[in-house]
Amino acid sequence: MRYRFHNYHPPAEDLLGEVLSGLACQPKRLSPKFFYDRRGSQLFEAITRLPEYYPTRTEIGILREQGGRIAEHLGHETVLIELGSGSPDKIRVLLDSLRPAVYMPVDISGEHLRDSSSHIARDYPDLQIEAVCADYSNGLQLPEMPADTARAAFFPGSSIGNFEPAVAIDLLRNVGHELGPGGAMLIGVDLKKDFHKLDAAYNDNQQITEAFNLNLLTRINREADANFDINHFDHLAFYNEDEGRIEMHLVSTCDQEVRVDGRRFHFTSGETIHTENSYKYNVNEFHDLASEAGYKAENVWIDNDELFSVHCLRVDSLAGNAD
Ligand SMILES: C[S@@+](CC[C@H](N)C(=O)[O-])C[C@H]1O[C@@H](n2cnc3c(N)ncnc32)[C@H](O)[C@@H]1O
Repeated sequence: MRYRFHNYHPPAEDLLGEVLSGLACQPKRLSPKFFYDRRGSQLFEAITRLPEYYPTRTEIGILREQGGRIAEHLGHETVLIELGSGSPDKIRVLLDSLRPAVYMPVDISGEHLRDSSSHIARDYPDLQIEAVCADYSNGLQLPEMPADTARAAFFPGSSIGNFEPAVAIDLLRNVGHELGPGGAMLIGVDLKKDFHKLDAAYNDNQQITEAFNLNLLTRINREADANFDINHFDHLAFYNEDEGRIEMHLVSTCDQEVRVDGRRFHFTSGETIHTENSYKYNVNEFHDLASEAGYKAENVWIDNDELFSVHCLRVDSLAGNAD
């Protein structure tokens, strides 16, 4: 069997528990991992095609241009683990040059993962595919892999920027434990840049990012027995220069009370739910973070407009705890 689907999706109670504790915080917050139900994944794909959203096409351009050199770093015949795979567009650019023995896409969005990995299975019938539906932020649970096959990770889309730097270090360290000493990681990281460009990328004219942000409330209504009125929340996204991150929020447009699984949460007019951070790193900042996580930086490629970086890292020291 060349294609298998492993379902380690977190149970529904995890979403309810995290939503209840996030809304009890001051300020209120929700994890961005909950954006990605089927509709959220479709909306994210639509975002990647927006004229304002430069990261996806820029990263794909770098992968296309540097495929041969990337393969020299990552090697062939590996178990290639793609974290937060989403759409198959990026891995398609790499598969011909990397020629892995096993392709292991990992994503929390189960139906979307099934669709995208089955498209890859159809187009690469000789490739062994082990698709894993799991939450990679909660310890990395992966199926058994052949012990004698080198491992490599591909972590695209600047998803690492969704984590507070200290949490990002822990996450990269955990992945390093899966890769083992000498394991390679290819990781896409959005660069610091003029804040107008950043603000525009998260406030598109077609308001797809707004729909993506609000879909989180629709999902919570459906899966956590809640009654958010999405007409009473606005999308807000801005670059926080001091923190070096884009912040996304949902702003309550009035005083209101919302019920979630029988519990009541009060919102004052203007109060926000913080739904996402997207940290931006210059090259040296990211090298420092990777080094803290136990990796050696081997190479970095940047587009001509200096919008996006793709780093090749190597597991150097496995000090520190794995989950
Ligand atoms: C920002 S999108 C990037 C998608 C794609 N890799 C790209 O580069 O365009 C983040 C992807 O990671 C997945 N994801 C988000 N949080 C996750 C988590 N905690 N565990 C596993 N997958 C996650 C989402 O479902 C989504 O497909």
